[in-house]
Amino acid sequence: MSSAKKGQGSLAVLVLAAGQGTRMESTIPKVLHHLGGRPMLFYILRIANALKPGAIGVVVGHESASVKAETLEMAKSVGITRPIHFIVQKKPLGSGNAVVESLPFLKKFKTAAVMCGDTPLLTYESIYNLLLTHDQLKGQATLLTARLQNPKGYGRIVRGALGEVQRVVEESVASPKEAAISEVNSGAYVFELEALIAGLKEIGAKGPKKEHFLTDVMEAIRAKGGRIHAYATANAEEVQGINNRSQLSVAERVLNKRMLERLMISGVTIRDPQTTQVDADVEIGQDTVIYPGTILRGRTKIGRLCRLGPFTHIEDANIGNECEVRHSYVVGARLLEKTSVGPFAHIRPDSILGPRARVGNFTEVKNSRVGFGSKVNHLSYIGDADIAEDVNIGAGTITCNYDGKAKHKTTIGAKAFIGSNVSLIAPVKIGKGAKVAAGSTVTEDVPDEALAIARARQVNKT
Ligand code: UD1
Ligand code: CA
Repeated sequence: MSSAKKGQGSLAVLVLAAGQGTRMESTIPKVLHHLGGRPMLFYILRIANALKPGAIGVVVGHESASVKAETLEMAKSVGITRPIHFIVQKKPLGSGNAVVESLPFLKKFKTAAVMCGDTPLLTYESIYNLLLTHDQLKGQATLLTARLQNPKGYGRIVRGALGEVQRVVEESVASPKEAAISEVNSGAYVFELEALIAGLKEIGAKGPKKEHFLTDVMEAIRAKGGRIHAYATANAEEVQGINNRSQLSVAERVLNKRMLERLMISGVTIRDPQTTQVDADVEIGQDTVIYPGTILRGRTKIGRLCRLGPFTHIEDANIGNECEVRHSYVVGARLLEKTSVGPFAHIRPDSILGPRARVGNFTEVKNSRVGFGSKVNHLSYIGDADIAEDVNIGAGTITCNYDGKAKHKTTIGAKAFIGSNVSLIAPVKIGKGAKVAAGSTVTEDVPDEALAIARARQVNKT
């Protein structure tokens, strides 16, 4: 195919994202609403980039500054290598007007693929097939369509007696007969620039909001002798646009299902896909088993042979091989090989646990290291601490890291033993092999191998 394969320089991709998204009832621009842990716009940009076009244009308008900033941020983090041009649509006068405003950008190219920023379920495969169809049939415009059981809300594809595409009619101006058509416009198209420019000159404001419909350009192109073709995808689910939060939740479910399928095919066991949520960027190694009620978010990486859940939330964390996390919350932390967390633990950012560490029952760890084989098994708070290897921390131990103004560090040497219910008033150092008696409040450093007892002596009175 000339446009997508060889002639990358001659293809531009234009993403329409200037709409306010009124139906979202939100102060956040629609395309920045999240799905699978990423702004909606991400999914279209990823496809746009994979097509290897000469350039990518994004039409912004409503809240253009934040959409621009997030787009650039996204582009960087997912390695969008193609240049991104922003086109600012001054007024929300419709998708046709958005493309008119983009013509100075598009004019440098021969062919343009146009997609909507609110259709994140589209697949690369279908867009590629759309380009391929456009190229093979050599028409002036080609649309991606699908047949929906419930076509409500979409532009309908009007075909002639021979099945040829004649025009697209928007629901707001469709006759009852047209509204009964089940084939809909996905909002993704490929145009020959020359025909698009000529066609756009012919379209006027329509519908209740007096908008310029991009879809009206089809009829205009045909009137000038051009041909319109369609590539109809059999996968109807992917053309779903997101105009409100109900559709957002449907799309979230579809994306999640796709992600889980991919993981299961690659060797991850998911005991209950219905109650498991995994964001788009999460990576999971082979033979890891995920139990029900588990949510894996953000930039999380999970190793091989782990056991996660039930009821566990892991976010932006790095979990090594053969780790276990049950009924727990782990955010921004690292677990090294064979470490076990939970049930009921909260591991907070900048914590490194393991290898072979155990942090359990009702324990919170923040900005701390728990070294090789060390155990913090019950009811503890470990904050700003460095715990070396083979340390045992007794139940109810608290690192008192905050004096009301600043945070202070607790350092615990290898093989130290901290008895139950100990308060370590930081800054403080417990030496290697040292022991701290249960119930102690430690305010001074404890030398290596020493036994610290810092509690009132028991008196029995009768
Ligand atoms: C649009 C199509 C419809 C199609 C559906 C698929 C038109 C007229 N209709 O309808 O045929 O079935 O998508 O989901 O295009 N936008 C701008 N500037 C504007 C208005 C819209 O950039 O002034 C952008 C929006 O951000 C959005 C896209 O264009 O990404 C489509 O606009 P939207 O209002 O969502 O159109 P739909 O009613 O969904
Ligand atoms: Ca839409």
